[in-house]
Amino acid sequence: MRGLLIEGGERLVGEVKVSGAKNAALPLMAASLLVEGPVVLENVPHLRDVETFIQLLEGLGVKVSWRGKGVLELDASRLSGFTAPYELVKAMRASILVLGPLLARLGEAKVSLPGGCAIGARPIDLHLKGLEQMGVEIRLEHGYIHATAKRLKGTRIYLDLPTVTGTENLVMAAVQAEGETVIENAAREPEVGELAAVLRKMGAWVEGEGSGVLKVRGPSQLRPASHRIIPDRIEAGTLMVASAITQGNVLVRDVRLDHLEAVVEKLRQTGTEIKPAGDQAVRVIGPARILSADVRTHPYPGFPTDMQAQFMALMSVAQGLSVITETIFENRFLHVSELRRMGADIRIQGPSAIVQGVPYLSGAPVTATDLRASASLVLAGLAAEGDTVVTKIHHLERGYEDFAGKLSALGAKIREVEVDEAAG
Ligand code: EPZ
Repeated sequence: MRGLLIEGGERLVGEVKVSGAKNAALPLMAASLLVEGPVVLENVPHLRDVETFIQLLEGLGVKVSWRGKGVLELDASRLSGFTAPYELVKAMRASILVLGPLLARLGEAKVSLPGGCAIGARPIDLHLKGLEQMGVEIRLEHGYIHATAKRLKGTRIYLDLPTVTGTENLVMAAVQAEGETVIENAAREPEVGELAAVLRKMGAWVEGEGSGVLKVRGPSQLRPASHRIIPDRIEAGTLMVASAITQGNVLVRDVRLDHLEAVVEKLRQTGTEIKPAGDQAVRVIGPARILSADVRTHPYPGFPTDMQAQFMALMSVAQGLSVITETIFENRFLHVSELRRMGADIRIQGPSAIVQGVPYLSGAPVTATDLRASASLVLAGLAAEGDTVVTKIHHLERGYEDFAGKLSALGAKIREVEVDEAAG
């Protein structure tokens, strides 16, 4: 079994570039289904999730090809089907993002119910409720959602929760609905903004991204577009924590600080210096003494749930006690038991983890359970005394492009190793 061996204790120093945003690339790839002709996306990260999404789109008849590093061309001129199969949806929940565009383009979609995942049940009831309000008929049979719509009609939708992919699905359906669709309590994430920007480039009428109220007018005559994807704010935040936890001094390039205000604010509270350093770059200097800080995750622009596990690794070696409360997912503390194996002092009380900082963590064999938990374990390994081996690193590869390579270029002693299954 493959693992990452990390010999802890090295300060990270140097310069690193953030890749394109995974959670923008996926909805933009789905949006290619809306138009006939080549959509060209730049700054697309080479990730397992992107590869899975390519497979899904090719299964629908989309012609997808890499046109050089980070440049993806997707041509959905001729679609051959409308089914997202179980094995792909099971591998990646974000496959649900084909539902909205397939309904807009073909009036029909069959998508396997995603099922739960490690961090929570993650239902899609709000996606389906919104689509039904637009006139979509939803049938659940044999584990699949079978959605059909003779015509989509604009309407007012209030989302009980600001679901990110739910908002994205509804916007992509709404561009071909007759009349105006107003989505209230819409997700405000920058990645939703990226989708709105690309839909406008394609000729759609969309406004209000970032405000919590999205308006879409349809139906639209859409044409192909090209777009350069924003940097990944979660990878950027993860790299900032890597510098903070190792008393490092790292120049992080391709960072949109305006997408990271909550994370930057919290890191500054821990004593980490974060100084703008030219165009879309920041210098991150880790403090000799890491101060504890409390965090509650919130929908954007609050502190992102996708940074919770990474911040917990940092608080594990902070001075004092911090309370980390997860308000988005019901089971996103799977990294706690693995951090404990490294000597972290963490107690879970309901939706909160009480972290008592310890002077140092000690390296240990640990197992990744989900994407951000795996990042958290790598960060802990960087700071730990001795060797850490993180297994099930396919979780990490879903969302981080060459993470070990980037850390090693900053001076980390990290490399891929073969771990014998029995030792796991
Ligand atoms: C997106 O997932 C991201 N994925 C997740 O990133 C991220 O953690 C999450 O948003 C929250 O920010 C992509 O963008 C591809 P949600 P999504 O729908 O859209 C509940 C990562 O690490 N909910 O905003 O699936 C749900 O259970 C991944 O890159 C319903 O109850 O998340 C959760 O508690 C992990 N019914 C909350 O809302 C619904 O119909 C937020 O979920 C939809 C969601």
